[in-house]
Amino acid sequence: MTGVFVTLEGPEGAGKSTNLGYVADALRRAGCEPLLTREPGGTPIAELMRGILLEHHEESMDPDAELLLVFAARAQHLNRVIKPALAQGRVVISDRFTDATYAYQGGGRGIDAARIAALENWTQGSLRPDLTLVLDVPVEVGMARARARSALDRFESEQRAFFDAVRETYLQRAAEHPARYRVVDASGELDQVQRHLEPVITQILERWRA
Ligand SMILES: Nc1ncnc2c1ncn2[C@@H]1O[C@H](COP(=O)(O)OP(=O)(O)O)[C@@H](O)[C@H]1O
Ligand SMILES: [Mg+2]
Repeated sequence: MTGVFVTLEGPEGAGKSTNLGYVADALRRAGCEPLLTREPGGTPIAELMRGILLEHHEESMDPDAELLLVFAARAQHLNRVIKPALAQGRVVISDRFTDATYAYQGGGRGIDAARIAALENWTQGSLRPDLTLVLDVPVEVGMARARARSALDRFESEQRAFFDAVRETYLQRAAEHPARYRVVDASGELDQVQRHLEPVITQILERWRA
C-alpha cells in the first residue's frame, strides 16, 4: 500500500497554512483523513531543530550548518512520520518540503543545487512528493501578509533579493518538472485561490483511491 505525498510550497504569506486547512477539510468531506504536517519540523525532535532554524540568534548561522540542519530535521520527519503514514496508504500533506530547501538555501543563500541534490538523495532515496502545490505571490504581497500576521522570523527578516530568488527558484523547478507541480496564483482573494485548488483536491482523491 502506498499513500499520496502532497507538499505545499511558496514564500511566507502565500497562504500555505490557510489553504492546507482548506484542502484537508475538502478531503475529509470525501472520506479521506489526511496526515497534516510541516517542515522544518513535524516530530518533537525535528520541531526543536525548527526552533533553531527560525529563531534569531546572537551569532549568524553558517549556510552549510543551516542546510545540514534542515536535512537532519527532514530525516527525522521522513523516517518517523511521513514514510510510516504513506506505508499505511494515507494522504500526507506537508507544509513545505525539499523544494523549500532548493528555494531558500539554494536560491536564497546561494548554495549549489548539486549539493542539495546530494543530500536529497541521501536522505530520501528515491522518495519525492507525488504532487507539489506552489502558491505563487508577488514578493511584496506575501511579505505584507506575513508582516500583518506576526513578528518576522529569521528567514522572513531577509532582504528583498533573497525572496526574489526564492520565488524564482520555485517557478523554475515547477517549469522543469511540470508533471509533479501545480502552480497556483495565490495573490487574489482567498475564495478565488480556493477555486483554483478544486482540481488539485480532485486529483489527490483520484490518486488516493487508485
Ligand atoms: N488569498 C489571501 N488573501 C488575503 N489574505 C490571505 C490570503 N491567504 C492567506 N492570507 C492571510 O495572510 C496571512 C498569511 O497566510 P498563511 O496561510 O499563514 O501563509 P503561509 O503559511 O504561506 O506563510 C494570514 O494572516 C492569512 O489569513
Ligand atoms: Mg505557514
